[in-house]
Amino acid sequence: MGTLLEVKGLSVSYRRGGVAVRAVDAVDLDVPAGAMLGLVGESGCGKSTLARALMGVLPGNASIDGGRVALDGEDLTELTPAKRRQRLWRELSFVPQTSMNALDPVYRLRDQMREVLCERGGLPTKAADERAVALFRSVGLDPVRLTDFPHQFSGGMRQRAAIAMALALNPKLVIADEPVTALDVIVQRQVLDTIRRLGRDLGLSAIIVTHDISVVTYLCGLTAVMYAGRIVEQGTTEALTRRPTHPYTMGLMNASPDLHEPVETLVPIEGAPPDLADPPKGCRFAPRCPLALAACRESDPPPVVVEPGHSAACFRAAEAGALREAARKASTWTR
Ligand SMILES: Nc1ncnc2c1ncn2[C@@H]1O[C@H](COP(=O)(O)OP(=O)(O)OP(=O)(O)O)[C@@H](O)[C@H]1O
Ligand code: SF4
Ligand SMILES: [Mg+2]
Repeated sequence: MGTLLEVKGLSVSYRRGGVAVRAVDAVDLDVPAGAMLGLVGESGCGKSTLARALMGVLPGNASIDGGRVALDGEDLTELTPAKRRQRLWRELSFVPQTSMNALDPVYRLRDQMREVLCERGGLPTKAADERAVALFRSVGLDPVRLTDFPHQFSGGMRQRAAIAMALALNPKLVIADEPVTALDVIVQRQVLDTIRRLGRDLGLSAIIVTHDISVVTYLCGLTAVMYAGRIVEQGTTEALTRRPTHPYTMGLMNASPDLHEPVETLVPIEGAPPDLADPPKGCRFAPRCPLALAACRESDPPPVVVEPGHSAACFRAAEAGALREAARKASTWTR
């Protein structure tokens, strides 16, 4: 599989008051064609900022401080904003964190579909309406609902409609930011099943942003774990879940309940991610890491390859087997 999206050294800051907040810091990420990559991490780690930077839809107080985002070999960061906008929907499409933001409340779904399919995709109205019917069916929505307004939809239906819009022009890459977080568990499962089926049937290339590692294990062949603006571990989902190597990944897995294990065995991560306006020196996870050594507070651990296609930015990566044992027990997973 060739590389579809290649991100190298991407950094993004926000201006907040007089302070710069580096929300994405020197991120490297590859998405092969036809792959689904899960981007996982706690709230405030920079996932949405990274997703928006890839799409070129950052807010006005944000700036790209460096790096390259190449789609099919073309560097998107060198394009003018107008050229970048032309790529939206046709090459890159986005399901934003709140699906209501993807849909305009004052237009019927059919008119919003027409806008994407006719104005951006160049289809005549009749062909656009036929495509909208097919898209609604593909995400499990009854096409009669195309004449509804977004407020007439349930949360799950809105999310499906947002996914249908994102797929409208067969983009090369879809980025979905927390596609199921706002939904109840039954509807979550239905929407996840739809995304999984679309991935299989269409060979969809996607980045699925989520704080829930179980969503990633269900949908994605590849995983990147983000902490405090950085990717701290990445590889195949199988390698990461079977052989997590960064203690943060181990902690995220601990915090995800296994229905087959008694609840007492949950040993989540204490504390909260750092303020990105003033991140800690050394490894950014050190203040919360039960396995930290003194050296971890002195310098940044660089990513190390632990097996082909699997890397982790931890000084203790070579001891991962023993660390995994320690991470499973409440007695050794406390600071
Ligand atoms: N528009 C903005 N202006 C200033 N700072 C922002 C802005 N948006 C996000 N941030 C800051 O950037 C950091 C990363 O935020 P981001 O929304 O990317 O995180 P996230 O991982 O998507 O979190 P969540 O899981 O809550 O959606 C946070 O410190 C946040 O406060
Ligand atoms: S480098 Fe040190 S503090 Fe950071 S995750 Fe590894 S063991 Fe923990
Ligand atoms: Mg977010």
